[in-house]
Amino acid sequence: MARLNDNYLKLAAGYLFPEISRRMNVFTAANPDADIIKLGIGDVVLPLSSSVRQAMHDAIDEMATPDGFRGYGPSEGYDFLREAIAENDFGSRGVRIDPSEIYASDGSKCDSANIQEIFADDSTLAVSDPVYPVYVDTNVMAGRTGAPDENGRYAGIEYLPCSEETNFMPALPDKPVDFVYLCSPNNPTGTVATKEELTKWVDWARANESIILFDAAYERFITEDHLPHSIYEIEGARECAIEFRSFSKTAGFTGIRCAYIVIPEELNGRDSGGDLVPVSKLWARRTNTKFNGISYPVQRGAEAIYSASGAKEVQANIDYYMANASLIKDGLSAAGFTTYGGVNAPYVWLKTPDGKDSWQFFDELLTKTNVVGTPGSGFGAYGEGYFRLSAFGVREKVEEAITRITKNFG
Ligand code: MLT
Repeated sequence: MARLNDNYLKLAAGYLFPEISRRMNVFTAANPDADIIKLGIGDVVLPLSSSVRQAMHDAIDEMATPDGFRGYGPSEGYDFLREAIAENDFGSRGVRIDPSEIYASDGSKCDSANIQEIFADDSTLAVSDPVYPVYVDTNVMAGRTGAPDENGRYAGIEYLPCSEETNFMPALPDKPVDFVYLCSPNNPTGTVATKEELTKWVDWARANESIILFDAAYERFITEDHLPHSIYEIEGARECAIEFRSFSKTAGFTGIRCAYIVIPEELNGRDSGGDLVPVSKLWARRTNTKFNGISYPVQRGAEAIYSASGAKEVQANIDYYMANASLIKDGLSAAGFTTYGGVNAPYVWLKTPDGKDSWQFFDELLTKTNVVGTPGSGFGAYGEGYFRLSAFGVREKVEEAITRITKNFG
């Protein structure tokens, strides 16, 4: 009989969001008339903007002609998209990124899951806690950890607690690690690292030859001007950081799929002989072997968010979601909840009432209000006692959810 990868068997529980859906489905089966409001997984609800739609239609029409037809594209993405990203996402903020340092992909989930493959099997790593569960799970699958303890923490990972005491920002690791995941704006807490905080991290990474894996999938939701959108706004970051960006929440592409990763040419790791090797060399090799790129119409759709009309439409969608975030935050605060986030991120992080554990509160909220959220413990042991509500909802539903929560818990 074929032997399987035992590392998968170490995974403490099912992946967070399917588990939420499973519990919700059990509840709906027993309560078929319940009017469920989903503020759990951060999935967009607004339709594609007209500029994106038009660009995708045009691309399909182009491909319906003998001259415009395209087969396999470049695995790293078409130049037109990489150039638009370099200019609009970085150049406009005074950050130098060459289009050749950008690798388009089918999602930040996949990128942040796959990146660990290019590091040595026995690499050491750190993650903030709570954080997006993909970072931990994929390193468990790759065999870089031992078994989980009773809190679901895996031996071999350095967890960096993020609590009220730390303003939900991780402290630097006690000892050097090969790579560390940072997420800003943070999923789930909504916290954003300041320039000073990121400078501390960049200095530390350079001094310790560590690589920062910087997940900036939610950077478009930053509303306060002084906050950095990219780690490359910090001097020296090109030598120590990889950045992840996504069109999912920005352009409404959770179903369409498009994201990208930036690997600057100065970023090196070491081979087993101690020699310096450009990280991009390994990522490009991996991409060419395992990926045939995202489709041409999708890349044209992504490019369209940088046109004058596309940029306006995208901003209107972001404003809509951030207005939801304010409604959730203000409504819950008025009802007596302690809330965080929701100002520079589409997630509101709240303390569960009366010290309830996160899953207990999930069940109670579902039963009493038919509102689905995400238990904080699903993001790590330090998320216990917290809960996340997503601002990616239809306005009327968000308002209704807050009314119900206030009535039952206020
Ligand atoms: C979330 O709800 O945390 C995100 O939607 C998950 C994801 O982007 O994969």
